Amino acid sequence: MAFPQQFLDELVSRNDIVDLVSGYVALTRKGSNYFGLCPFHNEKTGSFSVSPDKQMYYCFGCHHGGGAINFVMEIENLSYPDAVRFLAKRAGMEVPEDSADRAEARRRQRVLALNKDAARWYYQNLSTPEGGAVCAYLEKRRISRRTAMNFGLGASLDQWDALITAMQEKGYTKAELLAAGLAVQNQKGRLYDKFRNRLMFPVIDVRGDVVAFGGRVLDKSEPKYMNTNETIVYSKRRNLYGINLAKKTKRPNFILCEGNIDVITLHQAGFDNAVASMGTALTVEQTRILSRYTKELVLCYDNDTAGQMATQKNIQLLENSEFKVRVIQLPRRLVDGEYVKQDVDDFIKLQGPAAFEAVLRGSEDQLDFRMEAVAAKYDLSTGDGKIAYAEEISELIASLPSPVEREVCAGRAAEKAGLTREAMLLEVKRARGKLRGKDRQELTRETLNVSAARQPRDRTIRYTDLRSAMAEEGVVRLLFLDGTLAEKCGALPPEDFSSPVLGRVYALQLRAHEEGRGLSPSALAGELSGEEMSHLTTLLQKSENPGRADQALSDYIRIIRERADQRMGRGETDPLLAAMERSKEKKGYGGKPK
Ligand code: CTP
Ligand code: MN
Repeated sequence: MAFPQQFLDELVSRNDIVDLVSGYVALTRKGSNYFGLCPFHNEKTGSFSVSPDKQMYYCFGCHHGGGAINFVMEIENLSYPDAVRFLAKRAGMEVPEDSADRAEARRRQRVLALNKDAARWYYQNLSTPEGGAVCAYLEKRRISRRTAMNFGLGASLDQWDALITAMQEKGYTKAELLAAGLAVQNQKGRLYDKFRNRLMFPVIDVRGDVVAFGGRVLDKSEPKYMNTNETIVYSKRRNLYGINLAKKTKRPNFILCEGNIDVITLHQAGFDNAVASMGTALTVEQTRILSRYTKELVLCYDNDTAGQMATQKNIQLLENSEFKVRVIQLPRRLVDGEYVKQDVDDFIKLQGPAAFEAVLRGSEDQLDFRMEAVAAKYDLSTGDGKIAYAEEISELIASLPSPVEREVCAGRAAEKAGLTREAMLLEVKRARGKLRGKDRQELTRETLNVSAARQPRDRTIRYTDLRSAMAEEGVVRLLFLDGTLAEKCGALPPEDFSSPVLGRVYALQLRAHEEGRGLSPSALAGELSGEEMSHLTTLLQKSENPGRADQALSDYIRIIRERADQRMGRGETDPLLAAMERSKEKKGYGGKPK
C-alpha cells in the first residue's frame, strides 16, 4: 500500500507530534523538548522525549523512536496503512485509497464479521443437544462454563456443512467462507466445514477481533489440533492465544506457555497473565506485542525434550531484548515407576493453583536454566563426563560479569558434578583468561573504530563498516537539516553507502530534493521497518553544526568514497597496501583516518 508522498507530508504536518503524544503520555517541557514516562517500557523517571522541531519522539531508555506514524503504529498496535488512516481521521483528512485497497479493506471486514458470527454460532452450540459431546469434554477437562464463556469456546458439529449452512443463511458467500479458512473445497468443488466435531478456540487479537480458530478433537484421533492457516486477517507469527484477556492483567509479568488448554487452565486458576504461542517457537513479532504490556516473561513450556528445546530457542530470541526472562521447570511426574511429561494444565489440575503460585514465585532464572541444560548434556557419573561438563560450564560461568555470582555458580556447578569447589574455580579462572584475551582484542577494535556503542541495536541492521557508516550517518543528518545540500552530493551515489538502510534513506532524500519537496524523517515510516526507524531516530539525536555543513559534508563524502573504493577494490590502491590494511583490520587495528 503506497500513499502519495505529498499526502503523507501533509498528514504528518497536520498531526503535531507533541499534541498527538500528549493524548497518551503526560509531557512536561524542558528546554526545547518535552519529556514524559515512556509508554513502551516500564520506568519511574521520564526518559521519553518528544522534539517539536524534529517532529519525532525518542526514548533514551528503550531506544524506541520515530515520528507520528510510528508512534500510532506502536501505541495502537496498528499496521502502517491503518496508522495512516488513524492519523488522517484525527486530522480530518481524506485518505487517497485506490479502489483495490478499498476492496481489500472491505474483504477483511467481511472475513472478520464472518469469524465473529462463526464464533458466536460455535458458542451457541454448547447449549444444544448437538454440542453435548463438546460439553462433556469440557467437563472432563474441568473447564467451567464461565471460563468457556470468557474465552468464547464452542463446539463444531459432527456434520459436513453445518457451519457453512448457518453462515450462508446469514448472507456470507462461499468465497468468504473459503477466505476465512472456515470452509474447504474438495476436488469436486464441494465445500465442507473445516472444523467438525471439535472443541473450538477462537483466536482473538489485542483489538478484540476474532482472527482465527483452533479446534481440538474430543478423543485420541489425529490431528489433535487443527488451526486456521494464514488468511487475509490472520498471521500466526503476529498473534498469541489469550492476549485479548492477558493484556488486562494486573500481574507484573506474562506467562508464556505452549498450549491453548494451558492458557485456559491458568486463567481459570487465577493466572490471567498467561498466553500461548500455540505450539510454535516465539517470534520477534510476538515479542513486540508482548513488550507493550510487560517487561518480564515467565517461560512455562512442557517439561519434555520438545518443550526444553523451545525454551532454549526462546531464550536465545529474548537474550538481547529488554525483557527480563525467567523459566519455570515443572517437575516430572512419576507414574508407574516412570517419569512422564507434565504441562501446566496437568500440574495445576494435580497440584492446585497454590502450588503453581509457589513455583511461579520461586521460578528459576535464565542462568539456572542454562546451567541445568549444560548438566543434562553430560553423564556426571563418569570421570570423562565430569571433565567435559566442567569445561563447558566454566565457560558459561566465566562470562558472568559479577565475581560474586561467578563464585556462587562455580560452587553450585562443583556440587552438581561432585567436584571440589577449588577445582571448579580454577577451571573458571582458566576460561576467564581465554575470554579476557578475546575481550582485550575487542576493546582495541572498539576504541580505534570509534565505538561499539555506535552500532545499531538491532542486529539485522548492524554496520559492517563502522567508519564509513559514521560518515553516512552524518550525510543523512545534514540532508535532513538542509535538503538543498543534496546538490553537493553529485559525486556520492547511494550504492557507495556501506549500510543498506542509510543508503535507502539517502536515496529517498536525493529523490525528494529532485522532486522539489522537503522530506521529514517522520514521513519515512512506510519505507522503513520499526527497528530501522528507531535507529534513524537515534542517529538524528546527534547534532550537526549548520555553520560548518559544507565542510562536514565534503569530509563525509570523501570518507564514504574511500571506504567504498576499498571495499569494492576500486581505484588505484596498491594491492599490497590494501592487503595489509585488511589484515590490520582483522587483528583489530581499524583503518586509521587519512
Ligand atoms: N498444536 C497444534 N497442532 C497439533 C498439536 C499441537 O497446533 N497437531 C498446538 C496447539 O495449539 C496445542 C499446542 O500446540 O495447544 C501444544 O501441543 P500439545 O502439548 O500437544 O497439546 P496440549 O496443549 O497439551 O493439548 P491437550 O492438553 O489438549 O492434549
Ligand atoms: Mn496438555
